[in-house]
Order: sequence, then C-alpha cells, then structure tokens
Amino acid sequence: MAPPSFSSSLAARALLAWYRPAARQMPWRETRDPWAVWVSEIMLQQTRVSVVRERFVEFMARFPDPSSLARAKDDELLSAWKGLGYYRRARLLREGARKVVEDHAGRVPSDPDAFGALPGIGPYTKGAVLSIAFGLSLPALDGNVERVASRFLLLEENPRRKKGKERILDWIASLHKEGNPGEINQALMDLGALICLPKAPSCADCPLKAGCRARLSGRPEEFPRLPERPRPEEVTTQVGVAFREGLVLARRVPQGEINEGQLALPGLGLPKPRG
Ligand code: ADE
Repeated sequence: MAPPSFSSSLAARALLAWYRPAARQMPWRETRDPWAVWVSEIMLQQTRVSVVRERFVEFMARFPDPSSLARAKDDELLSAWKGLGYYRRARLLREGARKVVEDHAGRVPSDPDAFGALPGIGPYTKGAVLSIAFGLSLPALDGNVERVASRFLLLEENPRRKKGKERILDWIASLHKEGNPGEINQALMDLGALICLPKAPSCADCPLKAGCRARLSGRPEEFPRLPERPRPEEVTTQVGVAFREGLVLARRVPQGEINEGQLALPGLGLPKPRG
C-alpha cells in the first residue's frame, strides 16, 4: 500500500499530468489504428525505440493493414523487417495477420480472448494493444512497469510470482479507474524508461515520488526483488565461408532451428537453447 495520503486517484492524476507534456513522440502514438499499434508493440518487444522509429513508418507504408501482410512472401517480409532482428516475431505477426483475415474479416478483434488467441500475442502485447487502441482496462506489464510498480508498492515479493504479480495488477487496475488505460499504461512505460531507471533512478523528477514507498525507504534500487538471472550460455559452432565471383554461399536456415528462414553461412547451426 502507498502512504494513505497518496491514493491511486492521486497517482493516476500525477502520472498523466507528467506524461501528457513529457510523452515521447513516436509515430505509432499518433494513431489508434489497432493494426499500427499491434505492429509497433511487436517491433518494440526486443528492439530499441530509436531503431523502431526508423523502421515502423516504412513497414506501415508497405503493409498498411493485416491483409497486405498476410499476402507477403518470405523475402518481402524479412526485407521489411531488416534491422529489427528476432525475425521470428515477423513470422508470427504475419501468422496473426492471416488469422485476422481468415477468422475476423481482416479487422483486428477488440475482444481480449479473440485477440489474445492470435499467434505471437502474449499477455503484455494483448494489454498494450487493446488498452491503447480500444481503451480497454488491461495491464501492459513489461519490465519497466514491473519496476515502477514494485518500487511504488515496496513489493517484497517476487513480482513474477502469483502474489507479487497480483498486487501489481491490482494497483494498475486501480489506476485505470482514474483515466484512459492506454494512456496510463504508456505513462507507466515511459516513467520506467525515463525516470524510474534500474540504477540511479531520477526520483527527484518522478511524479509519483510523494507516494513511492521504495523512495521513502531510501533504497529504491533494491526493487524489484528478482532472483539472479542465470548466466548466458556460451556456445561454439562452425561455419564455412565459400566465395565465388563476389558472391558468398549461404543457406536458408530450416524450420525449427534458431533463426529459421534467415540466410546464414553453411555450417553446424546453433544448438537449441536450454529449456
Ligand atoms: N514500449 C513498448 N510499447 C511502448 C509504448 N507504446 N510506449 C512506450 N514504450 C513502449
């Protein structure tokens, strides 16, 4: 619980008063077209905002709606996704677009169960897209928002386990009662990205500082309480490089392997990640 004088209503108002003028300008924020919002959220999953900014406008010009992407051939898709990395996301986005064409007459469904059942849509993307595009009260809980909430609530539990997560979701739902859920969700994302940083957060500039129990405790950096991450695994592989007349021999990575569908040097490929 926040200090009793700092209710969710106050928090939501402070958050929006901060967000509206401070909101980072992003092309996908200028529309509520659910397809555009969906594309942006998929791109933003593992790619920095600055890179997405450059690629999003071009992608939307090439694929302005689900049906245009549903018809895209592999090469067209991968070329439009160039620079964004994690090409599996692009394939899942096309699968999702195909389902929308087949099952929803080409219109992105606003029903959470229907949207959530599309390929590539997890709880975060569902909440982000449906709150931003349709104003539904659904959480968009990414790492940034998890950090903001864990600190505000001084959450001693692991925020990824049932009890901790429930407390965060309750808090977000209480904020949604006070304003547009899409705006609240994006304000929380921006707060996590700009102010409530993992190390050395700028608490003095935070709109929630008067109610943030981690700041009041003097040790905001100790939250969220997450177990240590396993160390990255180093792998070794081998490739062959064959040139002829200025060309390099490449192979298309088969389905089921890491980086499927991409061009790669022929060789042993990459082992499957540990479970
Ligand atoms: N990261 C992912 N989606 C975002 C959004 N809509 N606004 C800001 N950061 C984001």
